[in-house]
Amino acid sequence: MTRRRLLMWGAFIAMAVAAVLLTLPVVSVLQPDYYRRYPAMGQRMDHWAISTHSQFSCIECHVEPGVGGFLSFAAKAVPAFYSQLAQGPTDANLLKAPGKKSCQECHTSYRSVSPGGDLLIPHRAHVGVLGIDCVVCHKDLVHSLNRRGYNRPEMELCLKQCHDGDKATRECVKCHTRKQTPATHLQKDWLEVHGKLAESKECGVCHDWTPDYCADCHRRRPASHAGNWKKDHGPHAKARGEGCIVCHGGEKFCKGCH
Ligand code: HEC
Ligand code: HEC
Ligand code: HEC
Ligand code: HEC
Ligand code: HEC
Ligand code: HEC
Ligand code: HEC
Ligand code: HEC
Repeated sequence: MTRRRLLMWGAFIAMAVAAVLLTLPVVSVLQPDYYRRYPAMGQRMDHWAISTHSQFSCIECHVEPGVGGFLSFAAKAVPAFYSQLAQGPTDANLLKAPGKKSCQECHTSYRSVSPGGDLLIPHRAHVGVLGIDCVVCHKDLVHSLNRRGYNRPEMELCLKQCHDGDKATRECVKCHTRKQTPATHLQKDWLEVHGKLAESKECGVCHDWTPDYCADCHRRRPASHAGNWKKDHGPHAKARGEGCIVCHGGEKFCKGCH
């Protein structure tokens, strides 16, 4: 063999090795089975396998469309792969959540009503105008379920991060159609009986989101106090003794006159 041939072979082998060393990571980190050696990650792949998106491969979400998308993915995948070989998966070396470009390959942002019909969620305002990424809200979409065992966004996220009544509205009806008002509330004597239920049932699930919701109303003058109430409250007081005290802060108020 001439020296020149030897050099050519050498260069060829080096290129082949380099190609394998570069391709292997890019292919590997897009395989569900690659992660199964790590128990915690295996579970996240199991969730993908039973999610609505199980019919789609990893590449559909994790590699943004176009050559640019592929190259920027590869540039991250190669060092990530070797870092994972050395120290296992860490926050720093795992794939990042997909950007909205990937999602928008298949979904539009024009949705504003949820399929259940109760929630109003104008996607264009959030994604188009505010520029929020889909996964900020849909992080439990594929690889995990939320506390409630759903893959849908939770109310806590909306109300804690943005809809705190200051940055954005916290009014129930801005997001929910009236459906969230439970049937109990629609009974005629609700204002009279709700106090009894307050002890036994979980009112806080819905009402804790509005600070002082109960107390604010108990400070207001109720509809019953009409006409010559100062003089005519006797019969009401006999019928609803307890109900008076909740707003009047104890019997001291009554004793002032009686
Ligand atoms: C429908 C889109 C979608 C598909 C398909 C998808 N993922 Fe994901 N992936 C996400 C989202 C969204 C996140 C970020 C949310 C999170 O961390 O739970 C994520 C996060 C990850 C992470 C970061 C670490 C982690 O566990 O959060 C890894 C690794 C990952 N995906 C690997 C994969 C692999 C491998 C596949 C193919 C089996 C895959 N993904 C398929 C959407 C997808
Ligand atoms: C390759 C196409 C494709 C990509 C990419 C994709 N989806 Fe989907 N997605 C679908 C299909 C198909 C369905 C099922 C049909 C439906 O419910 O509209 C679906 C369903 C959904 C649902 C409702 C069902 C569920 O599991 O809750 C949500 C929410 C969703 N996708 C959000 C996203 C987000 C966020 C991303 C980006 C991280 C994304 N999708 C990426 C095709 C895709
Ligand atoms: C500000 C938070 C937020 C952002 C950002 C957001 N979504 Fe949503 N999305 C929601 C909520 C809340 C629902 C209603 C979930 C429900 O029905 O319980 C929803 C519903 C959906 C649904 C219908 C779910 C179903 O069950 O069929 C799809 C599909 C969807 N979003 C896709 C996307 C995509 C794609 C993006 C990014 C382009 C995106 N969303 C960005 C909050 C958001
Ligand atoms: C910024 C939008 C938004 C506002 C404001 C809002 N919600 Fe929600 N709510 C949601 C979303 C998103 C979910 C989750 C939907 C799902 O689980 O399908 C939800 C879920 C719920 C649920 C069922 C699940 C749970 O977390 O218990 C109840 C009950 C509820 N909301 C009541 C209320 C009440 C009462 C108010 C007013 C104090 C309110 N919501 C205000 C967005 C909102
Ligand atoms: C719309 C105004 C309003 C709101 C909001 C309100 N209340 Fe009341 N509450 C009343 C009135 C009026 C009474 C007196 C009813 C009666 O005639 O006995 C009352 C009475 C009560 C009583 C005493 C009842 C009894 O018979 O012992 C309790 C306890 C009570 N409320 C708890 C609550 C709690 C807890 C909340 C918040 C989840 C709440 N209330 C929200 C108006 C309100
Ligand atoms: C599923 C959510 C939910 C639960 C649980 C819930 N509420 Fe409500 N409640 C609402 C909504 C929504 C309204 C209407 C709020 C508004 O208009 O601002 C409301 C209004 C009220 C009102 C005022 C009614 C009026 O006529 O103005 C009272 C009183 C009340 N709730 C007491 C309670 C008590 C007591 C409990 C526990 C036994 C409870 N709620 C549990 C959602 C809920
Ligand atoms: C502003 C002074 C005032 C306050 C405060 C007051 N009352 Fe009275 N109350 C009266 C007057 C005046 C009458 C009418 C007496 C009459 O007609 O003989 C009356 C009548 C009554 C009667 C009927 C007495 C009877 O013998 O028929 C009852 C019961 C009663 N009040 C209960 C209460 C309770 C309970 C409270 C506290 C929640 C209260 N009152 C607070 C002034 C007051
Ligand atoms: C939802 C809260 C609430 C409930 C329940 C309530 N009150 Fe009051 N009451 C008020 C408020 C607010 C005032 C206005 C006076 C004040 O500033 O304290 C008032 C004033 C009064 C007054 C003073 C006279 C007047 O007209 O200002 C009397 C007497 C009175 N209430 C008796 C009663 C009696 C008796 C009951 C039970 C049948 C009752 N209240 C139930 C909130 C309530």
